Amino acid sequence: MADRTRLNWGWLTGIFSSALLSFAGLAGLSTAYAAGPGPQACVKCHEEQVDYYGKSVHGQKGNLRGPANAGECSTCHGDATEHVKAGGGRGVGGVKNPGSKLMADDDRNATCLGCHAGGSKRTHWDGSTHQTRGTTCTSCHTMHSKDRVLTKLTQPQVCFTCHKQQRVEINRMFRHPILEGKVACSDCHNPHGSIGRALMKRDSVVDTCFQCHAEKRGPFVHSHEPVNEDCSICHNPHGTVADSMLKLRPPFLCHQCHTPHGPVIAQVRGQPGQSANITGKSGVNVTQGRGCLNCHTQIHGTNNPSATHPTPQFFFR
Ligand code: HEC
Ligand code: HEC
Ligand code: HEC
Ligand code: HEC
Ligand code: HEC
Ligand code: HEC
Ligand code: HEC
Ligand code: HEC
Ligand code: HEC
Ligand code: HEC
Repeated sequence: MADRTRLNWGWLTGIFSSALLSFAGLAGLSTAYAAGPGPQACVKCHEEQVDYYGKSVHGQKGNLRGPANAGECSTCHGDATEHVKAGGGRGVGGVKNPGSKLMADDDRNATCLGCHAGGSKRTHWDGSTHQTRGTTCTSCHTMHSKDRVLTKLTQPQVCFTCHKQQRVEINRMFRHPILEGKVACSDCHNPHGSIGRALMKRDSVVDTCFQCHAEKRGPFVHSHEPVNEDCSICHNPHGTVADSMLKLRPPFLCHQCHTPHGPVIAQVRGQPGQSANITGKSGVNVTQGRGCLNCHTQIHGTNNPSATHPTPQFFFR
């Protein structure tokens, strides 16, 4: 009975996929993958894998371009006829395991890329940092248990198996809410490759940040050069020990590029009470509280034409 159902399915999908092929001009799935015994032949020894497969996206007949309409188990594991005949076993009967290091990286990836090379997300996989450094699809994805990398809350744990430094940073005092599952590594990175540096999801760091921090985009009448260039000049978006995820606390952050300025500014600014002479005792404005930001409050840029202050270009308001 089970066999007949399967035959009918095969027959139906045969007609269906040839119709689909001629309509949509898709590559021939039915020829690309090995035929072989399906779930029924495996279930008595691999109940767990068969069960999960049946529930997963790949096991759905409704997923027309998926393995359930290609070669079922053999789509990824090859023809397991000999494996079944021999009574199973690791490496027995030439069965392929794309999750095993015994298989060459390129072959493991090819198992998946036959169906997943298309689409905008993986166009830059070839030559990407992960591809060239021997990270395979199955380093991050699992096919027979919940794929933790697809869920924001569990995703970081998958990345942390290889990225210890980021694990440390993400646990610091000032950080994105990544551990809470509100922001995911993949909101900023495309682990499948990109044209931006550090696998940025958008073409540049700034464009990646603008997805959520659009108010920093400008264009501003008075803009601050490093802000246009790369947010990570001042911020470490994984986390830091300084407020606002700054790599260093002002004034030290600012002193990397600017020389401390002298007493003249106090007069220009008309600051009450004290001189801003940062070399003398009363440099308190520069070093205390928010440091340089006590006065230069609009550090990302300002549109203020400033009718009241002569020097809006210095990011006061
Ligand atoms: C008679 C039992 C039996 C049947 C039937 C069977 N297997 Fe296996 N298979 C095994 C055993 C035992 C292992 C080794 C598992 C282990 O060591 O944990 C294995 C291992 C595997 C592996 C891992 C191979 C490796 O080298 O890492 C794959 C993939 C696999 N089987 C696929 C299948 C598929 C697909 C089917 C059905 C077409 C199937 N098996 C049918 C018993 C069976
Ligand atoms: C026969 C074609 C085929 C093969 C081979 C295949 N997939 Fe898929 N996969 C699909 C289709 C179709 C979907 C449905 C979503 C879509 O259209 O992209 C899918 C969905 C997925 C999803 C999303 C699952 C979800 O729950 O949303 C992941 C992740 C995935 N595949 C990874 C892989 C990996 C890793 C491999 C190799 C081990 C692989 N696929 C092999 C066709 C295939
Ligand atoms: C470094 C980890 C990592 C590697 C390696 C990786 N992926 Fe992914 N993949 C992810 C993450 C994270 C997501 C979820 C975020 C997203 O959609 O970009 C994802 C999502 C997907 C999806 C579902 C969403 C979609 O694009 O439709 C598919 C399909 C997929 N990956 C296939 C692959 C294939 C095929 C490979 C190997 C060529 C691969 N992945 C390698 C981490 C990885
Ligand atoms: C989309 C590709 C794909 C399909 C279809 C697929 N598998 Fe797998 N299988 C994998 C990958 C990848 C692994 C490595 C472990 C993982 O990702 O969970 C694996 C691992 C296994 C293992 C070995 C687990 C171990 O202990 O190493 C068995 C057994 C297995 N699959 C059986 C099956 C059976 C039976 C079917 C059909 C019902 C099937 N697989 C369908 C991709 C697939
Ligand atoms: C199996 C190990 C492994 C896993 C899992 C992994 N990576 Fe990587 N990743 C690497 C290796 C190896 C490099 C190369 C640089 C290095 O050695 O750190 C790398 C580099 C990177 C880079 C820097 C790329 C560049 O071009 O500068 C980013 C960003 C990155 N990974 C993000 C992620 C994210 C996000 C995840 C989880 C979705 C992830 N990785 C999971 C191994 C892994
Ligand atoms: C808010 C955006 C954002 C999020 C979320 C994010 N990253 Fe990054 N990541 C970046 C930026 C920007 C860089 C480049 C920083 C630089 O070069 O100073 C980077 C760099 C990296 C690098 C390369 C570091 C190096 O020294 O080359 C790795 C690895 C990495 N991220 C992994 C991760 C992992 C893992 C997660 C999730 C736990 C994650 N990132 C979450 C923005 C992000
Ligand atoms: C997916 C959305 C998203 C992306 C992309 C994103 N952020 Fe954020 N960012 C957030 C959220 C959410 C918060 C937390 C806001 C809160 O706690 O009120 C935040 C907060 C911040 C903060 C303030 C932290 C504090 O202590 O007040 C800084 C700085 C920041 N992000 C910088 C960046 C930079 C730089 C990038 C690009 C590398 C970036 N963000 C990309 C969502 C994002
Ligand atoms: C020149 C250094 C510098 C650069 C470059 C920079 N920032 Fe900031 N950023 C700061 C400082 C300093 C603060 C603290 C401001 C404050 O407390 O008033 C801050 C605070 C923030 C905050 C939290 C407070 C707020 O104003 O919302 C966000 C979000 C933020 N930056 C996003 C970004 C983004 C996105 C970029 C890139 C487009 C960027 N920053 C580039 C220095 C910089
Ligand atoms: C990576 C280097 C860099 C860092 C870090 C940096 N700046 Fe700048 N800043 C610049 C550049 C470049 C300009 C444009 C200078 C010019 O036009 O002469 C500029 C312009 C300014 C101006 C306007 C002055 C003018 O002459 O146009 C002020 C004020 C300023 N920065 C304050 C700060 C403060 C405060 C910090 C720390 C929160 C800071 N900057 C951090 C590079 C930096
Ligand atoms: C007490 C307020 C105050 C504080 C604190 C302050 N500034 Fe200024 N800054 C000013 C004023 C006022 C001007 C305008 C001077 C002028 O018009 O000639 C100015 C101008 C500047 C300029 C442009 C002119 C120049 O000298 O190159 C830079 C760059 C600058 N500040 C950087 C900084 C940095 C870096 C810090 C922290 C170390 C800082 N400021 C702290 C008030 C302040």
